[in-house]
Amino acid sequence: TDLAPFIRGLPKAELHLHIEGSLEPEQMFEFARRNRVALPFNTVEEVRAAYAFSNLQDFLDIYYQGAGVLLVEDDFRDLALAYFRRVAADGCRHVELFFDPQTHTDRGIPFSVVAEGLLAGISEAERTLGVTSSLILCFLRHLDEDAAIATLKAAEPYLDRIQGVGLDSSEVGHPPSKFARVFKAARERGLKLVAHAGEEGPPEYVWEALDVLHVDRIDHGNRALEDAALVKRLAAEGMTLTVCPLSNLKLCVVDDLKAHPLKRMLDLGLRATINSDDPAYFGGYLGQNWIEVAEALSLTRADLVMLAKNSFTGSFLPPAVVRRHL
Ligand code: ADE
Ligand code: ZN
Repeated sequence: TDLAPFIRGLPKAELHLHIEGSLEPEQMFEFARRNRVALPFNTVEEVRAAYAFSNLQDFLDIYYQGAGVLLVEDDFRDLALAYFRRVAADGCRHVELFFDPQTHTDRGIPFSVVAEGLLAGISEAERTLGVTSSLILCFLRHLDEDAAIATLKAAEPYLDRIQGVGLDSSEVGHPPSKFARVFKAARERGLKLVAHAGEEGPPEYVWEALDVLHVDRIDHGNRALEDAALVKRLAAEGMTLTVCPLSNLKLCVVDDLKAHPLKRMLDLGLRATINSDDPAYFGGYLGQNWIEVAEALSLTRADLVMLAKNSFTGSFLPPAVVRRHL
């Protein structure tokens, strides 16, 4: 059966999207041209050929390199708007989007340029597409905690327009506990907290995200399934997992979408959601993730309705707004 129209018609939210990961090769050349940045590629085909990853780090190396074409406010606005147009067409109504300020500030781009550009894209998307969204500032975990603290300080003037903080980049060797102080500071500022955990890292990292960082959501969480006590805890707390099927496939977290744990998560009573992570690099936006995983796992319409519902109940929207979307 053709699930695509049914999926497109389901109101959905996206809770795990790195805006830098929505940079399409065509756009990379466009930004490089207008900003006079040199690229190590000559054609879009060459860029796509480089997107064969065997793990998270392989991807991150090329993802950070790609972000080097983003220089001015309009680049960030245009990037965000192009993403919003694509997901609006997929039936996405709300996005809580990640950005990696350190990727830009470490190249000399002021925090304000990144934030103002993204905020402009966000308000234009709400006005012209009816897609609502909020920003989650992610700390790069391969850098030290002092750098994260400096980033939170740089974000100070924008904290009324930032919903939360997250933790991304190279997971193994950089446990959540490394960022205990900066997450505590963020929590004291009233920010929501999320962290990538259990993508490549062990279940212990998921425990730390819960017990040391006190996160409100777990990004990925695949490896939590290796620990029965952890599964029980996540289910009991109604903790949302922002799962990313095509990302997991492209980064070799799973060998085959048919072996993806999403259906098992639902059957275990976990509040799983479907997300795209870095759609320009992993072969599909939100709708494509839904369609491919639904087909691979033979998800039922009831499963899909549950997943759509989870995307709103797992969001940081106020309860009254969540109710309007259900
Ligand atoms: N940054 C962008 N995408 C990521 C992912 N899937 N895991 C960790 N860091 C990331
Ligand atoms: Zn991610």
